[in-house]
Amino acid sequence: MIALALLLGCPADDGRIDLQYCEDATLTHPVTPVTAPVTWHADVAPVVHEHCARCHTADGLAPFALETHTDVVALADAVRDSVVSGRMPPWSAAECCGKAYRGERRIPDEAVDLLVGWLDQGAPEGDPTTAAPLPPLVAPALARVDATVSTERYEAAGLFGSTDDLRCFLVDIPDGMRGRFVTGMQVRPGNTAIVHHVGVNAVAGWREAPFVRLDRADDGPGFECRGGQGALGDRSIGIWVPGLDALELPEGLGIQLPNDGKLIVNMHYDLTAADGDAFDETEVDFTLADSVEKVVVPIAALNPLWVFDRGMEIEGGFTDSGYGFAWDPQVLYGLGADWDVWGAFIHMHELGTSGSVALLKGKGEQECLLHVPEWDFFWQANYWFDAPTRMNAGDRLYVECNWRNPGDDIAWADDEEMCGAVIYATRAD
Ligand code: HEC
Repeated sequence: MIALALLLGCPADDGRIDLQYCEDATLTHPVTPVTAPVTWHADVAPVVHEHCARCHTADGLAPFALETHTDVVALADAVRDSVVSGRMPPWSAAECCGKAYRGERRIPDEAVDLLVGWLDQGAPEGDPTTAAPLPPLVAPALARVDATVSTERYEAAGLFGSTDDLRCFLVDIPDGMRGRFVTGMQVRPGNTAIVHHVGVNAVAGWREAPFVRLDRADDGPGFECRGGQGALGDRSIGIWVPGLDALELPEGLGIQLPNDGKLIVNMHYDLTAADGDAFDETEVDFTLADSVEKVVVPIAALNPLWVFDRGMEIEGGFTDSGYGFAWDPQVLYGLGADWDVWGAFIHMHELGTSGSVALLKGKGEQECLLHVPEWDFFWQANYWFDAPTRMNAGDRLYVECNWRNPGDDIAWADDEEMCGAVIYATRAD
């Protein structure tokens, strides 16, 4: 272990560096309410339909609908607060990072100005005959579906008196998918009122034994997997949340499935809006290709020393604490090559407060890939960039996590806390 520590340049402290970007970042919108007269029908309805109503429908996951003038007026204060604070629509990546992400859910500042201005004006309904056209409520599906897998029928039940259930299902990778490339994924929840987020990972046959053991040890379909995501190092195919369009990878890219093994479908059920029916059987559609121009390699960033007993101690008693780790991924992933980075993902459990993923470039420059100023375990996502970022040979990959722990001291463990990041990269040609 000492040799490993030396090899990694074991940091004397917690490994965090001074981030030169996103200092004091929050998700809060700056607001300049519009003062020109605006009405629900002419101006506001399209904004609410585009940014809220895909999730906030009668049979959706969100606890109430936000489709009509009456819906929104009834919850005016809550709507204002959720939007201005940046909690809604849920989107954790800070703008200050300077990256444009695919399928970004953040509501533009101008739309917030409009919504707040309209609420300030008393939320007038206006004239239905002047109604602006509304965007469609149903997210576009995958253009082509080549394979579908399904979880077993399961009745969700809140863990430890909560309304949340975190369940993993093992699904054999079907013959028609083995060794092929995933280029798109879409989750079709069986019970739209309770499916909150779904992570899909692939694990090769030689690594599947621990998951099979967990599955056997747990009564009923699947197994409890608090913290989710299986283990880092499995191939993460994608994370889906309600309201998301089909998850399509950038043109020409694909994530390869193993030749054998399992898919781990990691379900987060939230029973708040369950209405007595907590049964679910969710399907996941895939678009596949036999070959792709560029093979996506998920590159992990986490300090192996954290995984050792108390290697990542998080002090209890509401203390702010955090860890950072930088390493040169070329050591494990092909010496000397340049890479294009297409996306990033960061993972903590429920005590996380903020986190960051960056490239540390040759001359001490930092390039932000993903900055999450207000971590929300239940709204984690894969963030794919609109355009790739170059990672040159010698650049280091940095991950930082921060926590606030109200309980006793804890350390890394599957059911306690974690800190890890993954970037999605292809070899530059
Ligand atoms: C991606 C799906 C999704 C979108 C888009 C979305 N919501 Fe939500 N909303 C939820 C869910 C689910 C909850 C329940 C709490 C949770 O899971 O975070 C929620 C909770 C809320 C709450 C109560 C809790 C809080 O944080 O205040 C308000 C108010 C709210 N949403 C307003 C909005 C408004 C306004 C919009 C559009 C500007 C919007 N939401 C867009 C899914 C969504």
